[in-house]
Amino acid sequence: MGILLMIYASLSLLLLGSLGNLTALASGVVTSHNPEGNWAHPSLAMLDGCLKTCGDLSFDYPFGIGSRCSRGPDFNLTCDDTAQSPRLFLRDGITEVIDNIVVASDGDYYDNDYGIITSFWHTIPMKSGVHVYYLSFQPPGRSFSRGETILNITGCDLDVYWVNNNTHRTTWVCGTVCPDQAITETMSRLNCSGIGCCSFPVTGLLPDAFQLKFVHHHNKTSTATPSNQTSMLWDRISISDDETAVWWNIVGQPNCASTVQNRSTYACISRHSLCRDESVTSNNGYNCICNAGYAGSPFLQDGCSRDEGYNPIPSRANCTRWCGNISVPYPFGLEEGCFAREQFQLNCANMASSTVLMFEFDQVMSLNVDEGTIKSIGSDQQGASFYHIFSRRALFVGYGYFYSMQWVAANLSCIEAQQNISGYACVSTNSKCVAVEAKIDYGELSYIGYRCKCSDGFRGNPYTQSGCQDIDECLQPNICKGICHNIEGSFYCTECPHKTEYDLHKMQCTTTKQHTLLSGIIIGLSGGFGILALSFGTVFLIRVWKRNIQQQLRKNYFRKNQGLLLETLISSDESANDKTKIFSLEELEKATDNFDRARIIGCGGHGMVYKGMLSDQRVVAIKKSKVIEKAEITQFINEVVILSQVNHRNIVKLFGCCLETEVPLLVYEYISCGSLSKVLHADSSNSFSLSWDDYVRIALETAGALSYLHSAASKKKL
Ligand SMILES: *[C@@H]1O[C@H](CO)[C@@H](O)[C@H](O)[C@H]1NC(C)=O
Ligand SMILES: *[C@@H]1O[C@H](CO)[C@@H](O)[C@H](O)[C@H]1NC(C)=O
Ligand SMILES: *[C@@H]1O[C@H](CO)[C@@H](O)[C@H](O)[C@H]1NC(C)=O
Ligand SMILES: *[C@@H]1O[C@H](CO)[C@@H](O)[C@H](O)[C@H]1NC(C)=O
Ligand SMILES: *[C@@H]1O[C@H](CO)[C@@H](O)[C@H](O)[C@H]1NC(C)=O
Ligand SMILES: *[C@@H]1O[C@H](CO)[C@@H](O)[C@H](O)[C@H]1NC(C)=O
Ligand SMILES: *[C@@H]1O[C@H](CO)[C@@H](O)[C@H](O)[C@H]1NC(C)=O
Ligand SMILES: *[C@@H]1O[C@H](CO)[C@@H](O)[C@H](O)[C@H]1NC(C)=O
Ligand SMILES: *[C@@H]1O[C@H](CO)[C@@H](O)[C@H](O)[C@H]1NC(C)=O
Ligand SMILES: *[C@@H]1O[C@H](CO)[C@@H](O)[C@H](O)[C@H]1NC(C)=O
Ligand SMILES: *[C@@H]1O[C@H](CO)[C@@H](O)[C@H](O)[C@H]1NC(C)=O
Ligand SMILES: *[C@@H]1O[C@H](CO)[C@@H](O)[C@H](O)[C@H]1NC(C)=O
Repeated sequence: MGILLMIYASLSLLLLGSLGNLTALASGVVTSHNPEGNWAHPSLAMLDGCLKTCGDLSFDYPFGIGSRCSRGPDFNLTCDDTAQSPRLFLRDGITEVIDNIVVASDGDYYDNDYGIITSFWHTIPMKSGVHVYYLSFQPPGRSFSRGETILNITGCDLDVYWVNNNTHRTTWVCGTVCPDQAITETMSRLNCSGIGCCSFPVTGLLPDAFQLKFVHHHNKTSTATPSNQTSMLWDRISISDDETAVWWNIVGQPNCASTVQNRSTYACISRHSLCRDESVTSNNGYNCICNAGYAGSPFLQDGCSRDEGYNPIPSRANCTRWCGNISVPYPFGLEEGCFAREQFQLNCANMASSTVLMFEFDQVMSLNVDEGTIKSIGSDQQGASFYHIFSRRALFVGYGYFYSMQWVAANLSCIEAQQNISGYACVSTNSKCVAVEAKIDYGELSYIGYRCKCSDGFRGNPYTQSGCQDIDECLQPNICKGICHNIEGSFYCTECPHKTEYDLHKMQCTTTKQHTLLSGIIIGLSGGFGILALSFGTVFLIRVWKRNIQQQLRKNYFRKNQGLLLETLISSDESANDKTKIFSLEELEKATDNFDRARIIGCGGHGMVYKGMLSDQRVVAIKKSKVIEKAEITQFINEVVILSQVNHRNIVKLFGCCLETEVPLLVYEYISCGSLSKVLHADSSNSFSLSWDDYVRIALETAGALSYLHSAASKKKL
């Protein structure tokens, strides 16, 4: 209970502690009542005509005035309207009710216990010659239980003792002295610290009943009792407490389990309500609450209902919407008829200092209706942090001393809320319903209710008609890289018109003339590179294409020139194998530097002779004939084969041929001393001259070679 007290201290919704019936033993007799009587199972209709208020205070069933309107004698209230301001009392007639009795369970997260805020004031008249007085405390009825409290005892020359009702042990708790009438009267009102008044706390585990014993010492102080006896201090003992709570529950059955066995007096008669064992009070019993998400009175038929508390249309038109510089938009309001539901009423405590209060004491710093938040400062100046999950139906959820609370319009799902348009909060066009979840008590996310929000592209107050206004997105800088067009709920971009472009700094389309030099260079360079790359590409492609064409051509020539025949001939002849070779054109091109003119060593009517060097370092003479008849090709091939087999000292060696050109190329061994004809027909003036013997030898050896060739040719016949 102590923890609960701390939690609720700032809320002042429920306060603990109260005194029950007080009986002056000197005169009184404590009578006991049966708290449970016979009563109908009431509905709201059956309570029609029952008083619901006494002065400013209201109360709910099971409390009422008279047997028809209350659940038995314990809940029978008394309204004393003889005084100019009516006073409401519990059944004992002493415990005064000083705040509304709220029974309707409202789904509050901490609404575990029912308590009534009370105050108490009682006097015992003193009689001459009587020195000892007793006061017996007990709860106002079996259904009630006292909370912690502080008692003030006002009177003169008193010693106050606490008497344990079971052990009869007596403990001194406080005492008073009255040195001087004027001082005493002042001091007793100022602070209750022993002069004309003393106080003591009634804490800890509370006994249901206890006694106080007052001993009066007529002789204690030197000052005599005032002769005229008008002062309240000298002729009576006053016992009082402030704002304390009395807990109540249903005691017909000891707990919920027993109510299942015997339903005849079961109190939780509403649908969507449930029974809960009473743990706070010591007198057992149970209590009733509405299920989560339901609110109302669980004690009435159909008393628990879904949240229907939201009224989307303010009943007044001229509402104050500002308190100083703090805006108070609907659904919140300051005056009656200006808020959507009771819980959204705020209090403009001071217009000049912009002081807006909620939950009586917490100061509102700002309110955001589109985001569903309130920023506030808690009233508990000492406590660093505490929960703020409270208020009717837990429409507000937040935590801390400086806190930002989430709030919802109603504890309903969006679907539920939209089913009843007359209670649906999101009345603005272009608004939508948003489900709100929050963490409660470090627990898991739980559903709180719904709130409203302007649709995307709109902002404003979704809780008022046409409150959501289109956002002009085009006012935001650089939202488009071009021309921005605002439309209802959205926007679109178009490109800058022809010959203009978007300027990030000016945030508009500007003409392209203002191209910077750099961008010109960049454009020029990239264009140039593009063209370069294109031409390189083209050249490359052409080359590839050419090579393909050439290869095709060479293959054709090779076939035309009986290359395959030659190949088979060569491969079938072992002796020719290592000598005769079919050269590729590429090989010979490499050897002659692409048939460079400088390599020409001879030139005749039949064609050209080039000097070249093969990749194996052999120096060769390559004979490139002019034309050859197609019919002669087979003949030519035969000759190549024969010549390649020839190995004679005086005959130039044939290494091979190349058939990949139109006219086959012949590759000979290179003879460095020039041609024979040059030597034979050399001028006599030349220093180089031959003797007759040389001529004869040449003729002989030539004839020998011819003869050798002839014999060699006859060896192979095609
Ligand atoms: C205490 O309650 C009883 C009945 O419950 C009542 O008769 C009595 O007058 C009450 N005491 C005082 C001092 O009012
Ligand atoms: C309720 O209290 C009133 C006055 O205090 C009394 O007249 C009436 O009989 C009481 N009713 C019940 C049912 O106790
Ligand atoms: C009561 O008031 C007197 C005088 O103002 C002061 O000296 C004393 O400390 C006060 N006592 C308490 C408990 O506040
Ligand atoms: C009890 O005395 C204190 C001062 O000590 C005072 O503040 C309080 O109001 C008194 N309570 C009652 C019920 O007179
Ligand atoms: C407390 O004790 C006194 C005397 O012993 C007795 O008269 C009174 O009824 C008791 N009170 C309760 C509530 O038991
Ligand atoms: C006061 O009276 C009591 C008896 O009532 C007595 O015991 C006590 O001694 C007296 N004290 C003084 C100071 O007279
Ligand atoms: C009663 O006595 C007090 C203090 O002595 C005085 O102030 C007051 O006026 C007196 N009252 C009457 C009616 O004599
Ligand atoms: C049920 O409880 C009521 C009151 O508590 C009692 O009068 C009745 O006899 C009980 N019925 C049964 C069947 O126990
Ligand atoms: C709100 O309603 C939902 C069901 O729609 C329920 O689960 C939840 O506990 C309710 N929240 C409160 C605080 O009552
Ligand atoms: C506001 O209008 C209500 C009626 O709707 C009227 O009673 C009230 O006097 C008006 N207040 C102001 C300040 O005009
Ligand atoms: C609102 O007014 C209060 C006091 O008048 C001031 O402290 C605060 O700075 C103001 N806030 C704004 C946003 O003007
Ligand atoms: C619709 O909502 C209104 C206002 O919240 C409420 O009075 C009414 O009972 C609801 N109707 C239904 C059918 O729930």
